[in-house]
Formats: sequence, C-alpha cells, structure tokens
Amino acid sequence: MSPKESNKEWRPQTNLVRGGTIRSEFAETNEAIFSTSGYIYNSAQQAQRAFKNQEDRYIYSRFTNPTVGMFEERMRLLEKTSSCRATATGMAAVWASLASLLKSGDRLVTSKALFGSCHVVCSEFLPKFGVECVMVDGTDLNEWERVLSKPTQAVFMETPSNPQMDLIDIKAVCLLAHKVGAKVVVDNVFATPILQKPIELGADIVVYSATKHIDGQGRTMGGVILTNDIEYSNGSLLQFLRHTGPALSPFNAWILLKGLETLELRMAQHCKNAREIAKFLTTQSGLSEVIYPGLKSHPQYELCKKQMSDAGGMVCFKVEGGIKRAFKIMNAFKLINISNNLGDAKTLATHPASTTHQRLSQRERNEVGITDRLVRLSVGLEDVEDIKEDLEQALSA
Ligand SMILES: Cc1ncc(COP(=O)(O)O)c(C=O)c1O
Repeated sequence: MSPKESNKEWRPQTNLVRGGTIRSEFAETNEAIFSTSGYIYNSAQQAQRAFKNQEDRYIYSRFTNPTVGMFEERMRLLEKTSSCRATATGMAAVWASLASLLKSGDRLVTSKALFGSCHVVCSEFLPKFGVECVMVDGTDLNEWERVLSKPTQAVFMETPSNPQMDLIDIKAVCLLAHKVGAKVVVDNVFATPILQKPIELGADIVVYSATKHIDGQGRTMGGVILTNDIEYSNGSLLQFLRHTGPALSPFNAWILLKGLETLELRMAQHCKNAREIAKFLTTQSGLSEVIYPGLKSHPQYELCKKQMSDAGGMVCFKVEGGIKRAFKIMNAFKLINISNNLGDAKTLATHPASTTHQRLSQRERNEVGITDRLVRLSVGLEDVEDIKEDLEQALSA
C-alpha cells in the first residue's frame, strides 16, 4: 500500500477531495472499499506483537479498517485536530465521547436545547450510571456562569441547537468550563465542519452525526469524534470504542468519503437556498415566527456572524394555529418530503414536537420553544424557486 496521500500544505478543499487517501498495489483512482473484518499475520509472533501494540498495523475492523481510516484522516485534516475516531452513527459518537469522559460521581452540565436522543443520553442514561446532569438555558451566559461555579467534569452543548437554532457562545462557555476543570464537547451537526470551528473557539472535543451534511445525500449513517486531547483519544475513548464496538462499516465510510468531496460546495448552496427560503417565509401570512440565524430578527444574529462563517441550511417556522395547521401544511407539500432526517440534498420537513422530541415532557419542550406550532425545514439543493412555490401552495392550503 502506498503512503497516505495527505499533505499538510494542501488547502481545505483539496484535502476534502484527496486527504487521507491510501492506494493499494492496484493503484486505483477512487478510494477502495476494504470489505474485511480481519487481517492476516505472517506469523504467530507477528500477531502477538500486533496485540501488544509493538507493530502499527490493522488488527480487526472493530478497531479500525483502511477505508474507515481514510475517512478518519480526511475528517481530521478538515477539522485540523490531532485525532479523529469514526463511529457507526452520530448517537454512538455522542454516547462514546461522554461515556469515556465521565464516571459515577462526576458532574455534567449541558444546554437544555438538545436533539431528542442527546437529551435522553444526558438526562436519563448518564444519571443511571451515577453522573449528575445539570441543564441550563444555553443562550444565557449568566446561567452558565452560575452553574459552572463548582467542579464539573464535562460540558455538552449543541449550537445551533436542533431544531429551533439557539446559539451558544462557544468561546465564553469554554472559558468558564475550563476554569472548573471541565472538558467541553460540542455537537456541531447543524453548523457542519465547514461553517463553525469549535476547536478553534476553545472546545476540547467535537462530535458529528455524519449521517447529516457530511454524507449529504441521505444514504448512510455515521458519526465522528475529533479532538486534540491525545491522552483522551488514545486512552479512555479508544478503549471504549474497541471494547463496546460502535464501529463504522467500510462501505459507509466510503460513502462518507465521497460525501466529503463535495461538502464545501454543497454547504455554500444549502446556505444560499436556506437564506432565501427564510426571507421568503417572512413575507408569508399565517406564520407567527421564522427562525434562521442569518436573519436580523434572530436573537443571536450577531453571535452567528461572530462564530459561524454562514448561517447554515436549516430554517424553522411557527404557524398560527396549532398542530392541526402544522400537519395540514406538511401534508400539502408536493415537493418537500416529510422526514426526520436533515442535511440531505432533498428538502425535508419535520414536526419536532411529535417526532424527534416527542420523548421530552411538554414542559421540557416548551422550555426550549418546541411547541406544536414549530415546523423544521432542512433546505435542500433543488432550485430554490421550486421550494418556494411548494411552500407557497402548502401555506395557502
Ligand atoms: C444535533 C444532532 N446530534 C446527534 C444526532 C444523532 O445522529 P444519528 O442519527 O446519526 O445517530 C442528530 C440526529 O438528528 C442530531 O441532529
């Protein structure tokens, strides 16, 4: 196998296309799918050396695999970290990142506005193992300051949050967290690695659901954990991943490698379309609110400009009336599909209160603005005029 085709001097878009590529003896152009669970040793002694970490080689695809390794290396170059570990799903990345940081008796502080499953992991699963979980209004720095006044081992946040796009000042929260010894984990799914760089803003660990914009075409699940903390990555995280087994499959890693090649180009178009859809929605009657961090009406418009290079591909709106009107509009879509996924080339609509966030109590949902009136759009790559026309006819249904 030829050495890795990765060069520190390449610019980001070149790394997205070529970073991390390894070629077999067949000199293939396209990255190969190494569909193998195991690897052959020349001798029993070599196998022994491999298991003692005395030889750097592939051992078993639960640990890593050449195609998965290429994806990890390309993501690492994109995020400019010293380590990247891939997982089978975004939730596996969230769970592994936190479970390998925390132990019984530790304290975790999170923002309240989290994706439904992240909320369940932090508020139900981790407390079952003796971790105290304190949730704050992520937009309120005073609350972060108050809660981060005692020893804390981890902070977990999502910014922009799913679905209603609250923004958190990553730099300010990292400063507070580090003072009390906490490591900061940022779920950067809505922003993507193109639009926001949490590590540069002070975060210790970044996680992604690669299922979303990184694949970008609704084909596969995947997750990523990135960090500069080598002790954590090569220590508790590596042990957790190796022994609990949330490994990414080589085929899915290959799809994600292909997704990365066009990520920057797609994000530019997602942002352009989303901005136009958000502006268009503000001209429509029957809506009480349009939420997009790139609109001046967004309460954290200034923070968005400060910590993101663009406002992303997600737009939310609140309908006048209740769940009946929200459902009526969604059922009237002819082009836009109803789906709880996001980050796809196709425009998708979700009603978070009845789907992704239905496990939260009504009180918990209300606290973060996920009411029955909220509809989330993942704006796709279709011609924006077709998306507008579909919204217009559905809103007047
Ligand atoms: C913010 C956020 N984090 C994590 C996840 C989980 O990702 P996955 O579905 O790949 O497990 C999602 C999924 O929608 C998400 O939106």
